[in-house]
Amino acid sequence: MNEQDTGRAEKHSETWVWPAVAIAAVAVVAAGTAVGFGLGNWRSHTTTVTVAGSTTSAPSAGAAVSPTVAAGAHTFVQFACSQCHGPQGQGGVSPYVPALTTVGKTLTVAQLTQIIDHGLGESANPTKPYMPVWGEVISKTQVANLVAYIRAGLPAVSQNDPVPIPQGQGQAVAGAALYVRYGCINCHGPNGLGGVPNPLSADKSIPPLSGGGFRHDFPTDAAIAAVIRSGSVIGKAPIVSMPHWGGIIPNADVAALIAYLKTLK
Ligand code: HEC
Ligand code: HEC
Repeated sequence: MNEQDTGRAEKHSETWVWPAVAIAAVAVVAAGTAVGFGLGNWRSHTTTVTVAGSTTSAPSAGAAVSPTVAAGAHTFVQFACSQCHGPQGQGGVSPYVPALTTVGKTLTVAQLTQIIDHGLGESANPTKPYMPVWGEVISKTQVANLVAYIRAGLPAVSQNDPVPIPQGQGQAVAGAALYVRYGCINCHGPNGLGGVPNPLSADKSIPPLSGGGFRHDFPTDAAIAAVIRSGSVIGKAPIVSMPHWGGIIPNADVAALIAYLKTLK
């Protein structure tokens, strides 16, 4: 964000300005909970000013946060939490998916861990999105990092944008990137190879989205689109089911995902 401004201030300000800026920054940080903020981050006035600026929320800001919180922020994007809950958990994607900006204060570490591992219950033939079950897919360390990130107030972390979607290069190219952006790859593997363990399910693993078996069971675009939109609940937690993406993934993106899946082996 303000790196240029900061640089200018450093060059042109009188030195007596700095204590005032630093005190203001300390006050801002102290007013927040500043969970996980290490002293090691207070290296320079530049860092101090960056942190103070980021509390006024610029999503692409490079706030200084602890490695645990930073890891949680990246995991939040990698597993597409941000695709349902909005960037930095700010909501606004679907009326059925809550913002996460206040749960860090209202839910305990144990409660948040339980929700991420086991979801919040899903019904057969759901008509709206449900919180997926992640316990078999996301490691204990990654879940702990996610919880730390949520409890820190989901701060902005630099270089944490979802993968860009190439434009004007055809549906299959866009679909390959969307497969990563929506986190399909985490459950269905690279190239749709499947194999991610799902021990209590009948298949013992999350199914592939390539190969003859898949083509046989899902012979048409409409059949694939239907399961992406409505999900497919195959059991209660800790069994991992197919999330319901209706109202989350726009039709054009569903079509691009299907075009990509058809290029696979
Ligand atoms: C497919 C969309 C979807 C994805 C992806 C998703 N969630 Fe959710 N999440 C939901 C929905 C819907 C709810 C509300 C469920 C309910 O109240 O029954 C929810 C609820 C939650 C809650 C409880 C919020 C509250 O107010 O009680 C937390 C915490 C949460 N999700 C965290 C995450 C994290 C972390 C990830 C990524 C690992 C994630 N979610 C991925 C849809 C999603
Ligand atoms: C949390 C893990 C998870 C994520 C994320 C996920 N899926 Fe699935 N998906 C599953 C599971 C489990 C099934 C098996 C459901 C069943 O057997 O009825 C499945 C089934 C499917 C199927 C039907 C294949 C079959 O053999 O049942 C398609 C198509 C599919 N997913 C596409 C996608 C796409 C596209 C994405 C990304 C937008 C995605 N999935 C994200 C877990 C996941």
